[in-house]
Amino acid sequence: MIEHRLIERMLVVIKNVLAKIESMNKVDPLFVDTAVDFIRIYADRTHHGKEENILFRDLEKKLLSAEDRQVMEELIKEHRFGRETTKSLIEANNLYRNGDETAFSGIVDNLKILIEFYPRHIDKEDKLFFPSSRAYFTDKEEQAMLAEFWEFDRKMIHEKYNSVVEELKSRK
Ligand SMILES: [Fe+2]
Ligand SMILES: [Fe+2]
Repeated sequence: MIEHRLIERMLVVIKNVLAKIESMNKVDPLFVDTAVDFIRIYADRTHHGKEENILFRDLEKKLLSAEDRQVMEELIKEHRFGRETTKSLIEANNLYRNGDETAFSGIVDNLKILIEFYPRHIDKEDKLFFPSSRAYFTDKEEQAMLAEFWEFDRKMIHEKYNSVVEELKSRK
């Protein structure tokens, strides 16, 4: 939930910049790169990563109510939808950077989809899924999960900058 608050702050930034992008009818591809980096590395890899690889994995081992199971499946689908939208955004941004002005609408549309989709997803987790999922775990299990979250986060900075080096090497 703490991480949701930072994602929300970023969504507000994107929303404000999007208003300028639309009124000026142009976009700075470097802004989109920064937004994409945040969404991919923080919101998806770091945040959804902990949800999917730790929380949802452990919930899989529990006997979930039909409703909770359904919501968990929806959340996983929504993560996938977020990834696909981000991929389309990156493609549009690359086309635009290379001079294809028709890709402008692709950037605007996908940014809009992301800022509309994420708050609903976050709300579903904060108000519905997280409170009910806590009931399946003992305090001990919860502590073990938190420890695993820390370990997951600890590795993230190394994974990020490894990928930066690999990406730059592959450009040669
Ligand atoms: Fe999520
Ligand atoms: Fe989340």
